[in-house]
Amino acid sequence: MNEKIPDTVTLTSTDHPTSDDPYQSFTLPARYYLDPEIFEAEKHRIFYKNWHYITHESSLKKTGDYASTKIGDEHVFVIRGDDGELRAFYNVCKHRAHHLVEGTGSTRSIVCPYHAWCYNLDGSLFNAPNTQDLPTFDKQNFGLTPVQLDVLCGLVLVNLDSSAQSIDQSAPGLREDLKANVPWLAGGEIVRDCTFGDAAMAANWKVVVDNNIECYHCQVSHPAFADMISMHDYEQDSHRNWARQLGPKTKADNIAYPFPDDGAVPRAMFWYLWPTLTINVLPGYRLANVLTINPVDAQRTTFGGQAISAHDGEIPERVYEYVYEELGTEDQELCESVQRGLRSQSYNQGPFVVDANKTGVSEHTVHAFHKNVIDALK
Ligand code: FES
Ligand SMILES: [Fe+2]
Repeated sequence: MNEKIPDTVTLTSTDHPTSDDPYQSFTLPARYYLDPEIFEAEKHRIFYKNWHYITHESSLKKTGDYASTKIGDEHVFVIRGDDGELRAFYNVCKHRAHHLVEGTGSTRSIVCPYHAWCYNLDGSLFNAPNTQDLPTFDKQNFGLTPVQLDVLCGLVLVNLDSSAQSIDQSAPGLREDLKANVPWLAGGEIVRDCTFGDAAMAANWKVVVDNNIECYHCQVSHPAFADMISMHDYEQDSHRNWARQLGPKTKADNIAYPFPDDGAVPRAMFWYLWPTLTINVLPGYRLANVLTINPVDAQRTTFGGQAISAHDGEIPERVYEYVYEELGTEDQELCESVQRGLRSQSYNQGPFVVDANKTGVSEHTVHAFHKNVIDALK
């Protein structure tokens, strides 16, 4: 495996430095957002070593229910076993490497579509047709390769690194914060699959993360959002491998979408878990948009996932329309413009605009994210 991992990526003498101090640091050099080799290194050093969301537990209630996803170039799936346990595996047959399942569904056993090797739901090989004359063949040697799995308040996450820390160890405090602020998330149901903006944004995945974890741009670029959520009172804090934004003051009668002023969800709350997961709760409804920032290649990214609702009744269509079409399109245009600018020979790095009180419009969370990227690639 090791020979596949690209060399380390470091800053050069012509780059401005980065440090623990955001005032002394500059943003990631532009090539980090452009270079396919750096993207290749990110797959191995970031994507294959951290936790990624697959689905909400509510879609995996019954024995044999499964969901699959792609992480970098790797395909994985999670499935509920006969014993009720959720397990995750590489989506790769042990015969000649065909994919085993596609998308989501339910099955009594995992049957490879190529030559019909059949696996139990715990990943062990149950039957391999016509292998009876193979002198040394032992089914026990051909079970599926397992992948680490953890459930975070109903969200099913996987980590390809078998020695990686648990979510609670790598992102301490996140579970408690979610439980305290969105106690209904674990018991919610998927109400729709969603794409934020168009299917694939023409931007590096880190441009999309940068944009998602700061609200310096919100007053300027999201007028309806800023009408609904007071930017003056906006807060954000950065923790080890996760960050949170809070909009404690909101207005029910606003130009984004009006919502019932019944106190059910009076605040806006947004979480980010390094490197790809965002959990977005806008005011008014028990609705969490759980979206992942998934690179397609060095300069294209999808931002999509699922809407998880614990709301009693229908959520007005206008809510989805605002979030996915209007807000999503505004952010997509910002990200794609940044990506074009990063390709200019006139630009390499910029400063972090951090204020002393680390208010809601400060970019200290972006600084922490860039530090994570640099450290991971060293
Ligand atoms: S590749 Fe799966 S059975 Fe042959
Ligand atoms: Fe935005």
